[in-house]
Amino acid sequence: MAKEGKTLVVFFSHAGDNYAVGDIEVGNTKMVADYITELTGAEQFEIVTHKYDGMAYTPLINLAKEEAQKGELPDYEGEIDLSKYDTVFIGGPVWWGTYPQVMFTFFKKYADDMKGKTVIPFTTHEGSGLANCVEVVKNAFPEANVTKGFSLYGHEVRTEKKKVEKWLNGLGY
Ligand SMILES: Cc1cc2nc3c(=O)[nH]c(=O)nc-3n(C[C@H](O)[C@H](O)[C@H](O)COP(=O)(O)O)c2cc1C
Repeated sequence: MAKEGKTLVVFFSHAGDNYAVGDIEVGNTKMVADYITELTGAEQFEIVTHKYDGMAYTPLINLAKEEAQKGELPDYEGEIDLSKYDTVFIGGPVWWGTYPQVMFTFFKKYADDMKGKTVIPFTTHEGSGLANCVEVVKNAFPEANVTKGFSLYGHEVRTEKKKVEKWLNGLGY
């Protein structure tokens, strides 16, 4: 890696029944997070919740919509000390035009800990691109330096690693 300082990749990703790519063992966003980790030498923090384990696509869609409408903040496992990182990639799937609610739980918890860091949002999606996710991250971390985001179609993640590489090269990695 060509950059100074330590880099972290924070992400949420849902393995299992998936609209465009079928039943997947590794979620689309995790694939991208793993590429970033490999190509930049970053460390990872995965936002893990068991709330959606084993859910079929349609019930998950409905639950996610309800959570978004109610602004719910589902719990997730584990913690991370952000103080040792200078750059933080943050990624997730687009769910109903934004990040999944469990990522908002993370944003709320670490709102004060991103000050002065470079934060780089990314998404995987099936048509919405970045949706409103860059705005969401900027609002969550007003004292961070939030950069332009990157998005990749979920159905492309397994064949288009080079797009991730190109993006990271453009960032100086
Ligand atoms: C509950 C739910 C809501 C979704 N909403 C959107 C959406 O609003 N826009 C979009 O482009 N894709 C949407 N998708 C597709 C996902 O963003 C896409 O499949 C993504 O790559 C999944 O990433 P993951 O495997 O890391 O969870 C949705 C998928 C789910 C399960």
